[in-house]
Amino acid sequence: MENDLQRKDIIESLENELKNIKTKNDLANIKALYLGKNGLVTNLSLKMKEIPNEEKKEYGKFLNEIKNEVTLKLDLIYQELDKKELEEKLESESIDITLPSKKIKNGTMHPFNKIVEELEDLFVSMGYDVADGPELETDEYCFQRLNIPLGHPVRDTQDSFYVNKDMLLRTQTSSVQARTMESNLEKKPIRIICPGKTYRRDDDATHSHQFGQVEGLVIDKNITMADLKGTLEIMAKKILGEKTIVRFRPSYFPFTEPSVEVDVSCFKCGGKGCSLCKQTGWIELLGAGMVHPNVLTANGYNPKEYTGFAFGMGIDRLAMMKYGIPDIRYMYNNDIRFLNQFNRKEY
Ligand code: PHE
Repeated sequence: MENDLQRKDIIESLENELKNIKTKNDLANIKALYLGKNGLVTNLSLKMKEIPNEEKKEYGKFLNEIKNEVTLKLDLIYQELDKKELEEKLESESIDITLPSKKIKNGTMHPFNKIVEELEDLFVSMGYDVADGPELETDEYCFQRLNIPLGHPVRDTQDSFYVNKDMLLRTQTSSVQARTMESNLEKKPIRIICPGKTYRRDDDATHSHQFGQVEGLVIDKNITMADLKGTLEIMAKKILGEKTIVRFRPSYFPFTEPSVEVDVSCFKCGGKGCSLCKQTGWIELLGAGMVHPNVLTANGYNPKEYTGFAFGMGIDRLAMMKYGIPDIRYMYNNDIRFLNQFNRKEY
């Protein structure tokens, strides 16, 4: 009976104190008042020794109950405070996700690089390597090893920037043909493409002193014109669309025999005739042919054992046609208004 009253008193006073609690610190103080060294409940348990033996069991039970009850109440308040604290924190650190964000300006892919990457992906998927060579080149690799001896008239069509008697800015990526064949010491089969910059003394809306080419070279046993045709057809369809038709016209390059010029059906009008294809329905895409035996010999390959094909394509013209760019100079001025039109998404 006495225990019950005491218990009621303690719980009531605890409940009263807990009403005014604001912080975890307040709670800790109250906890000390009840369960601390000198706390009310602690003091009660010290009285145990004064309790007569036959009542000890009863008293022990009472002590346990009151301890549990006090602890439970304190715990409940602790959890409430914890929850409140978290809510306050969330509230104060909240972010309004409905606010419009600042636009991040992403860089864009230059149309030139777009085409190069597309071609590299395609040819690498067909087992080609991507080769490289110097832009400042010797006359030997740019011309002589490609069956263009000194004084050959074709040199006139490639108005060149010579830096001295023997060196020039390469006029064609075909120089990498010679370099790749020569450096392949075991004279094994070759399958490369080489995108790169080339230079000629030209300057108008469709010609720039600097422009880009992609060279292709395949050398192996039994390579035929059919391989060249199939390869270029795959390339044209992949780059310009599946409906593209490819046409070969006889042509002349000193380093290929036979040589061809390759046209594709106009990808704007589909071949009906429009301003892009100058009403012809065809667009000139590249030069190609079977590697001339003299070129194989000059670079250490036996033409009786090996044959090969090569092609060379202007990148700028292709980009201009594909993206409707009217002047080649846009490709090199780096005008942000021009570049911004090529976003990554469509790539
Ligand atoms: N190098 C030639 C050019 O610049 C293109 C070409 C490359 C032709 C390879 C045939 C074979 O016009």
